[in-house]
Amino acid sequence: MSSFIPKNLIEEIVSRTDIVQIVSEYLSLKRSGANYIALCPFHDEKTPSFSVSPDKQIYHCFGCGVGGNVINFIMNIEKLDFVEAVSLLAEKAGVNLYNAVSDDVQKGIVNERKILYEINKTAAEYFNKNLFSFHGKEAIDYLTRRGITKDTIEIFKIGYAIKEWQDLTDFLIKKGFKQKYVVKSGLAVPRKNRKGCYDRFRGRIIIPIFDHIGKIIGFGGRVLDHSLPKYLNTPETLVFDKGSMLFNINNAKSKLENGYIIIVEGYMDVISLYQEGIKNVVASLGTSLTQGQANLIKRYSNNIIIAYDGDVAGQKATLRGMDVLDEAGCNVSVINFPKGMDPDDYIKKMGHKKFYDLINTALPLIDYKLSVIQSRYNLDTVQGRSEYAADAANLINNIKSSIKKDAYIKKIQQQTGISSTAIYDYINRSNKKNIIGNNRYNKNGNQKDVFVSANLLAEKGILKAIIEDMDSFRYVSNILDYEQFSDENNRIIAEYIYKRYRSNEKVVPSVMISDLADNVSSDFITSIIEMDTTQFTDKIKFIDDCIKRVIEYDTNNEIRKIQEQIRLLEKQKGDVDKIEILLNRLMTLKQHQIDCRRLEGGKSIE
Ligand code: UTP
Ligand code: MN
Repeated sequence: MSSFIPKNLIEEIVSRTDIVQIVSEYLSLKRSGANYIALCPFHDEKTPSFSVSPDKQIYHCFGCGVGGNVINFIMNIEKLDFVEAVSLLAEKAGVNLYNAVSDDVQKGIVNERKILYEINKTAAEYFNKNLFSFHGKEAIDYLTRRGITKDTIEIFKIGYAIKEWQDLTDFLIKKGFKQKYVVKSGLAVPRKNRKGCYDRFRGRIIIPIFDHIGKIIGFGGRVLDHSLPKYLNTPETLVFDKGSMLFNINNAKSKLENGYIIIVEGYMDVISLYQEGIKNVVASLGTSLTQGQANLIKRYSNNIIIAYDGDVAGQKATLRGMDVLDEAGCNVSVINFPKGMDPDDYIKKMGHKKFYDLINTALPLIDYKLSVIQSRYNLDTVQGRSEYAADAANLINNIKSSIKKDAYIKKIQQQTGISSTAIYDYINRSNKKNIIGNNRYNKNGNQKDVFVSANLLAEKGILKAIIEDMDSFRYVSNILDYEQFSDENNRIIAEYIYKRYRSNEKVVPSVMISDLADNVSSDFITSIIEMDTTQFTDKIKFIDDCIKRVIEYDTNNEIRKIQEQIRLLEKQKGDVDKIEILLNRLMTLKQHQIDCRRLEGGKSIE
């Protein structure tokens, strides 16, 4: 959750809100037994499998598996982050977040963020006014020379910081902002040897950076000539986290008629494309893409087109950034610009029709990577072709779909004249080399997997039972400690439940989901709460079966560990007494295993 909103407040907001009412603002709900159902808004379906439980105050889709409490619902449907969703619900529930925050430190942070947003907004308006005053003449000339229109200046709220040391700082202080906060906003820099501070941006064109909601979080400032650095940016502040923002996401997010987002490098690329009518464009501002940026962009689209400057796109750091998007599940394609050209240059020179041609012929990430690899070899020589084929085969080897893999291998065959059989052969041999170290584990792999999943199911069954009532908890906790849950998610949930009950607190599903939000996904938790156990009419018998399975798994694990230890000691001709002790323990465990099986009498919950 990593937020400054205290848990009890989140609990209050969740409990003051009715999930049925909130969901019905978005979907048409129909009553069905104790629950409400609707068509799931998170996947395509014809018959409703999305269900909302008024008792548990949670939702769950039996089709695609999503679920959570009212906060998760708002996060997913409005594409907001946790804090944003809580704020929205707080507003609806009439809870004043700021007043309700109890801790002084937390209050300070909420307060400080608010002040920084205000400073940024005030500064942006001031910069914009400067641009149109006599101070801004040179800057207006520069922008005009670059073809930027007055409308565009308005859309991006572009401004100008005049060439004085303390102009903005004085203005902000006169407006009533404390110097301390002006420094914290990054707009002013403290003087080294004297008291006071000076403006960070002087004599620069100022481009405000908005977050996805439309709040100004920072600025970029460009020089008007060739001096360096070309751009100065706001440093990291309480509201400006470079790694998780994208320039122009506030405008781009509502301009996705064609379903994809273009990522460019720079401010000017965005501004220029936008002016030419290509509005679904954001900039990573010169850095390699991060997980935070991938998360942000994925809220709006999975289809990403990378349009970086001709000379940087193929560089290692850039390719790694594209992998971040790829691994996050995006479809990534890449546009290749002529060397030395960026999107801004290209669209100015060739017009937006030609730009769309490039978009339409963008290469899927794999093809693009192949072309980068290819550029390193001379395919006119035998050595170049075989080295390229080997390098390319290593890349292709990572493709999961065998049909796709085959298609690419045929492509390499075409490029090099090396037969696809030879390429397959190469891939298979290198795969074998990689597995040898793991062979031992692979041999029993399948059998083990079946066993593991039955065990996990049993653990989930126990959790479901003890969430429902305290009597079941008392029964289970006498036999099983939460540390005996083998799956990490299950163990975290078990620990939470055990601790709640042991301090005489109720377990409320919707509250549990928020309390564990940092550690376990809401989808996972709701899959437990909404698990269908109606076929097991005898609850105690059901719980017993589950417990037996968990204990048996625990025992089997220990047996395996001891056997391994014994094998090692024997091999090293180690301590005979120690082996003896281990053998005894092994016998006890095996006996226990047999007892368990007998008790179980065959049938259990698979
Ligand atoms: P570019 O040098 O490609 O800038 O750097 P640009 O956007 O094309 O700008 P113009 O056309 O020369 O005006 C790409 C991005 O890298 C960051 C900026 O975000 C820039 O938009 N950058 C670059 C800096 O932060 N500082 C610099 O000194 C240079
Ligand atoms: Mn440029």
